[in-house]
Amino acid sequence: MPEPESVPSAVPWWRDAAVYQVYPRSFADGDGDGVGDLAGIRARLPHLARLGVDAVWFNPWYPSPQKDGGYDITDYRAVDPVLGTLDEAEKLIAEAAGLGLHTIVDIVPNHVSDRHPWFRAALAAPPGSPERERFHFRDGRGEHGRLPPNNWRSEFGGLPWTRTADGQWYLHLFAAEQPDLNWDHPEVRAEHEAVLRFWFDRGAAGVRIDSAGLLVKDPDLPDLTPEGPHPYVDRDDLHPVYRSWRAVADSYHPPRALIGEVWVPDAERFARYLRPDELHTAFNFDFLARPWDATALRASIDSTLAAHEPVEAPATWVLANHDVTRTATRYGRADTRFDFAAKAFGTPTDLALGRRRARAAALLTLALPGSVYLYQGEELGLPEVEDLPPDRLRDPMHHRSGGTDPGRDGCRVPLPWSGDRPPYGFSTAPGAAEPWLPQPADWTALTVEAQTGDPDSMLELYRTALRLRRTAITGGLRWRPAPEGVLAFDRGIGFTCLVNLSPQPVPIDTPGELLLRSGPLTDGRLPSDTALWLGRA
Ligand code: NOJ
Repeated sequence: MPEPESVPSAVPWWRDAAVYQVYPRSFADGDGDGVGDLAGIRARLPHLARLGVDAVWFNPWYPSPQKDGGYDITDYRAVDPVLGTLDEAEKLIAEAAGLGLHTIVDIVPNHVSDRHPWFRAALAAPPGSPERERFHFRDGRGEHGRLPPNNWRSEFGGLPWTRTADGQWYLHLFAAEQPDLNWDHPEVRAEHEAVLRFWFDRGAAGVRIDSAGLLVKDPDLPDLTPEGPHPYVDRDDLHPVYRSWRAVADSYHPPRALIGEVWVPDAERFARYLRPDELHTAFNFDFLARPWDATALRASIDSTLAAHEPVEAPATWVLANHDVTRTATRYGRADTRFDFAAKAFGTPTDLALGRRRARAAALLTLALPGSVYLYQGEELGLPEVEDLPPDRLRDPMHHRSGGTDPGRDGCRVPLPWSGDRPPYGFSTAPGAAEPWLPQPADWTALTVEAQTGDPDSMLELYRTALRLRRTAITGGLRWRPAPEGVLAFDRGIGFTCLVNLSPQPVPIDTPGELLLRSGPLTDGRLPSDTALWLGRA
């Protein structure tokens, strides 16, 4: 099934797309089991078309024991029965295309589920067997091999090694139920290229590549030391993998897009993934992690644009996703950075302040050149849900921390669509089960229904901003002189964005017609934590 052509344009869609991220289990529940599904998404696609986004990225929808929110996959060519069927996924892709929405499918190449047939076969086979070569099995160190083979740490905390019944250990950079694949194995490479083709053949316009910087390991799996190349992050020999994937993507008409989840702090190293024969774009986590501070954000914008320019790749801008604290909550705290290590229960939050800043941040982000990612619920201004009952928390980051890390469930709570009590229209079937993560009792004013038509709502702000982004914003970014704490820039000659991150109101001394503002002005001045867009014909 070819990906339906959108309006012919000289600019490929992925260069400036607004991409909406759907976490399928929490978007909309069509069958009433309390878990979001493809039927629910299909019924709610008009919301996305009306919102004004260009593409939808779906977090993994594959069969999975759900040991890591679907990132533990047993079959890359199927849909989890809880979510629907492959036939429904094909229909969803086609219906989205009919609404002008490109589909981006999540691909998870670093690891599989421990219930994946390859890993089951590996466990059933003896040490040294070909079945084990697709993974990283090693003998342990110390007496009787009782110590793990090296000093690495799991990305989720704790050991990244688990010992099997026969005494060998296997590597898992994430949870124990997510064994890492051996990317030096030709079958592993061939399998993932076949999986890419499988989804491209079904009309996927692109793939989001999970943990894209971690696949290739130093074959000796040496101890981590402060010197020398890292044994598994951002290895030089990873680039041929993506060159090969690019050839697959380019063999389609229209060419498919590769979008990497690359957490590589060095801007020059990051840009290497975006060379013309590798990935098309990659998430910009530097911008996401920065505090609500004009100097810090401007530095991130400048370094991002400078790093992308030589490789001629578009920048991406991300404020939130299914792994990080919701924007309205993060910006309402004393420490407005995002840092996995700093997450803690009981952090005081001024949600009204956070919402005001989140509105201003939306206008800042949507005015930047490149593509932008919008995580579901951000358009509603949802807060992080921080009082989920402990026995409902699913995230291995929480459990592997011994319960000190709040984990990521709080940003994955099912969306509120309508009504004045849970499930807020999340499940539409009569007699539906309770949502898989409980929704707060005070979300009535946050539903799509309640916000629709309210000019002051976050939803209408996003709708207007996304419409204007398509029609009124083009051209490169040029900074304007501005008072301390204020970000001011033009796009082309006809558009200006002003964001006041300073504590006091500032004069608006830029000519132009007011297109949009994130909050009221005071005496014609731009208040603290407020943004506005100006246009000039
Ligand atoms: C990144 C994903 O975004 C996250 O949700 C997941 O836990 C890890 N990769 C492991 O797949």
